[in-house]
Formats: sequence, C-alpha cells, structure tokens
Amino acid sequence: MAFEAHFRTHTCGELSTEHTGQQVTLAGWVNRRRDHGGLVFLDMRDRYGMTQVICDPERSPEAHRTASELRSEFVAQVTGTVVPRLPGTENPGLKTGAIEVAADRVVILNPSRTTPFPISDTISVDESLRLKYRYLDLRRPKMRDNIILRHRVVKVIRDYLDELGFLEIETPILMKSTPEGARDYLVPSRLYPGEFYALPQSPQQLKQLLMVAGLDRYFQIARCFRDEDQRSDRQPEFTQLDLEMSFVAEEDVMALIEGLLIFLIEKTTGKRIKQQPFPRLSYKHVMDRYGTDHPDLRFALPLVEISDLAAADSFGVFQGALAAGGRVKGIRVPGAGSYSRKEIEELTGFARMLGAKGLVSLAISPASEIKSPLTKFMTDEEVQAIIDRLQGEAGDLLLFVADSAKVCNDVLFRLRVKLAERLKLIDPGEMALCWVVDFPLLHFDEEGQRYEAEHNPFSGMDDAHLDRLDSDPLNIRAKQYDIICNGYEIGGGSVRINVAAIQHKVFSLMKLDNEQIQEQFGHMLEAFEYGAPPHGGIALGIDRLVMLLADEDSIREVIAFPKTQSALDLLMNAPSPVDDKQLAELHLRIREQEERS
Ligand code: AMO
Ligand code: AMP
Repeated sequence: MAFEAHFRTHTCGELSTEHTGQQVTLAGWVNRRRDHGGLVFLDMRDRYGMTQVICDPERSPEAHRTASELRSEFVAQVTGTVVPRLPGTENPGLKTGAIEVAADRVVILNPSRTTPFPISDTISVDESLRLKYRYLDLRRPKMRDNIILRHRVVKVIRDYLDELGFLEIETPILMKSTPEGARDYLVPSRLYPGEFYALPQSPQQLKQLLMVAGLDRYFQIARCFRDEDQRSDRQPEFTQLDLEMSFVAEEDVMALIEGLLIFLIEKTTGKRIKQQPFPRLSYKHVMDRYGTDHPDLRFALPLVEISDLAAADSFGVFQGALAAGGRVKGIRVPGAGSYSRKEIEELTGFARMLGAKGLVSLAISPASEIKSPLTKFMTDEEVQAIIDRLQGEAGDLLLFVADSAKVCNDVLFRLRVKLAERLKLIDPGEMALCWVVDFPLLHFDEEGQRYEAEHNPFSGMDDAHLDRLDSDPLNIRAKQYDIICNGYEIGGGSVRINVAAIQHKVFSLMKLDNEQIQEQFGHMLEAFEYGAPPHGGIALGIDRLVMLLADEDSIREVIAFPKTQSALDLLMNAPSPVDDKQLAELHLRIREQEERS
C-alpha cells in the first residue's frame, strides 16, 4: 500500500523483519507509553494495527524528550529505523511483533484529553458512555473489525448480485404514509400545510413498481425506518438488502439467496454451515416443534405435545388447561435428572416470568426412579407413555407447561434456548440456517375484527387457493418464505400479487373500504393494470446478518452510530426541540405539556 508520503510511509500494521534497516515514518494514536528507566516505549495504533516504537535518549535526545510528553490517544508522527526486537522480546500475538521502530524524530500532531474510558477490548464500559463517545469506542479493535466486516459483507453482496445482472437502484426516503406494518416516522411538509411525508418502512411498493417498469432484477442496500419498540435485534432505522425479480417462482428467489448466503459466510468468516441445502420447514412444523417461527436449529431439544396423553389423568393443572381449550407441551432436558430443587425452582421462576403459571417436572434418576407430581395422578403406565413420547431416559429431566397454545409455545421456546445455553449445546463455530415456508396468507385480528396479512398485503398465494379469498381466507397458503439463522429472522419475502382485482380483494379483507384503498394504494392497483409481470423478492436484515457473522449479541455492535434501546442518539442528542421559527414554517405548534395525553 502506498501512503501519503507527507505524513507516513507505512501504516502501523504492516512492518516486519523484511523492512529491517529501512527508514520509515508512522502516524497514529499512542495506545500506550511505557517508561523503562532511560528508554520510552510507544505502542502506536491506527486502523491497520499496532507498532512498537523505542525512543532511546542516546540515539535521539530530542525524540526521547517529545516521547516523554506523549499521553494515551495523542496523535503523533514517528520517524525512525526498523530494527528486529531483541531475542525473547518478540510479540507473536502482534503482526508487527518481530520488529520495532527506533525513533529519530517524534512529532506531536495533536494532544488528547484523558478519554472517558480506556481504548481496550478487555474492559467493559457502560453502553451509554460508549454511545456518547462512539468515535472513541470505534477505535477499539473489536469495533473496528465489526465495521470492516460490515463493509466486506456489503461489498460481497454488491459484487455477487452485479455478476448476476442485478441493478442497484435508489428509492426515495421521503415517501407516503401507508397503514401496513409498524408505525411510520413522519416528516411535515413546509409547502403543503398539514400534510406529511413518511420515511419508508421498506421500499416494498417501489421495488414492485420497478418490476412493472421492466427493470427485471433490482437490489438496494436500503435504509428502513420503523417506529416500534426496540430490542437487541431492532433499531428504529436499519438496513436491508432489498431485492426483487421478475418472472420468478418462490424457488428462484430462495435459490438465489441461499447461494448468496453460503458464498457470503465462506468469504467473510471461518464458520461452518450446519446443513446444506438449508432445510425447508413448514410454519406449522416449526411452531409445533420449536414454539416459534424463527427457531435456533444449532441444537435439538424439541417441544413435544402430550395433550392427548394428559387428557387421561385427573391432574388439576393439566385438566384445567385442556378444558379451557389449551395444550400440554413438554421438553426433555438430557442429563438434568439430578437438578436440585433449587435449580428446578429457578427454571420455574423463569417460566413464570415468561407468562406460564408454573412448570411440571418429571425427573428420572440414573437408577430410573421417577420423581414427579404426576405420579400421584397417573398410573405407572400413563407416566411411562409420557416418558416414551418425550424419549426420556435415565438421568433426564422432563418439563411441562399446560396453557393456551400461545403461552405453551412462548414459554417453551425461550426455555429451550436457555437450556441449550446452560447445557452448552451451542457450537460457536457453526451457523444453522433454514427456510420457513407454508405460511398462512392471513390471520384474524380479534381486536380490529379484520383479517391481517401475515407478512405484508402484497404477498401472493397458492393459485389453487384463490377462491378461498371468498370462502375460507384463513386457509390460504402464502407464497412466502422467511430465512432464519441461529434463531434470528434474517430475512423474509414472497412472490407477489400482480393482478389488481386480487390485490383489491386482499385489501377489502383487511377492512379497507374502496375509498381508503384508492387513497392509499390506488397507484399500485393502477400500475397492475399496465402489464405487471409476475414478480417476487425478499429483504435481508443486514444488521442482523453482520451481528451473527461477528458473533455479537446486539445489532448495535455492528452499526457505526446506533440509537439506544429507547431510540435516543446520545452522541448528537437527538431527538431535540427545534425553535419556534422552524415550527412555524412547518405549520406546527407543540401542545403544552398539560394538554398532552
Ligand atoms: P420484513 O419486514 O420481514 O420484510 O423485513 C426484512 C428483514 O429486515 C430485518 N428487520 C429489522 N432489522 C433491524 N431492526 C428492525 N427494526 C427490523 N425490522 C426488520 C429482519 C427482517 O427479516 N418489504 C419486506 C420484504 C419483502 O417482502 O421483500 C420487508 O420489509 O431481518
Ligand atoms: P399449584 O397447583 O399452583 O400448586 O402447582 C402445582 C405444580 O404445577 C407446581 O409445580 C407448578 O409450578 C405447576 N403448575 C401450575 N400451573 C401450571 C401450568 N399451567 N403448567 C405447568 N405447570 C403448572
């Protein structure tokens, strides 16, 4: 790499014994200064790495004097000669660890205040402090590596799709508010009093219109905005690989994305993919077996339903749940048959916190003795039938939840993950991906007394199910697919509706009247009347994908300037009040505190 000779000849990450004897100039930050009697050692750091500098007063009294003034995070320039380190003082953990630079000249380019936290990967720092001083946090090698990985991921995606003839097309950030999905971020219009733009929740409609335009293969690294409750895998603004293709079936989009993900994982990490081709599991299967539509397949621990077996006994807990239309589901915890009472109580507490009324346990000792409240209400044969259903063995612990299907699933889904962590069943070197398919097109929202789209209102449906739009809307199979990695939904998409009358019917089921449909989606319906090709697509969550590739637990670790869990920007202090003149221009007035609801 040739570098600006004015400030530096090399980076802090590239010198080795090959450069011995060369005169070099480095520029960077002082990671650490150590005074050893007469000698001063500097660790000089930049984006590329770290190089040790030795300042010997006998070689250059002036360089030694300046080096003595340096403090951590000062920006400095060092000119000197590359020399091998003394035998025994090499640092094999450092790329430049075989050499050091003997300084002839040291220049302070800019001093630094004492930083609010040390620039180090080994010290844990409060996240709000890290976010306030993100520019310091990003100097840490781990954060730098995450940012570089993210760049690499996006670059690989762009090159891969370009090879396949995809066009990268930008779509507007100032868009129209529509009622699908999450809450919109709104932007007041200065020119049209009382009217608003909305920031896009995704470029969904525009990418479909690009297909109507005949552009055939579109993608975009697109910023999306959703005003929803934050979690570790959610941000108010996040990035999608958004993609759409014409003349495709579900299979085509899935094959493309599967190829891309395999290539990407190979190119950017040393991780293994557990199963290829990625398994395709039905929505019903994953809900039954894992209690969630984004299962972590790195480990087994399946949920097993025993409602039919539980119906026979006189155990109040089971009977109560079944009588209320609920279920009884269980999970086998291998090797946990000797958990203490306290450990089981801790798991029960966890289940209660997640909404369960309790946990029924059945412990099988290594000598096959059974300890469980169930033995009081069931014959030995009935208990054995339950053990057999869960494939329980000596030394296992079986845990059961009796409740509505939703509560059983929610609780056991999280318990399953917690147990896998506790039993150390997760191999960090492995990634488990799967497709979830066969979603219902619609579900019924009791509160709004209307049908809602399971994914979005543009998803297409099984051709054989079209007449069910009138007769049986809940039994329509959507042409939809989600891609799951290590228990996270990293993407989802569908083959779309491209016929105006069908799209209109779906909107009607969502209880939109003709006027609302025209006002909100008239442009889509009209476009479909001008030769809309069959088309479909998908969007991958780039933040989640990079988080998984980087082995992080939060997408904030792979976003340069993220917001907090409560949607605050602590670095720039946003959101913030604006002055009255700005408000007046936008025809807005802030309600007084006491008027606000
Ligand atoms: P969907 O809403 O499923 O689909 O979003 C696609 C993917 O984006 C990621 N994602 C998020 N990541 C971080 N923070 C968020 N708040 C957030 N919300 C979603 C997830 C998700 O799988 N237009 C459709 C796609 C299509 O049908 O083509 C869409 O946006 O990884
Ligand atoms: P109780 O009848 O509340 O004394 O509970 C008896 C046992 O059953 C306790 O171990 C509870 O944790 C457990 N339990 C209570 N309700 C449920 C339920 N709905 N599902 C599973 N276990 C339960």
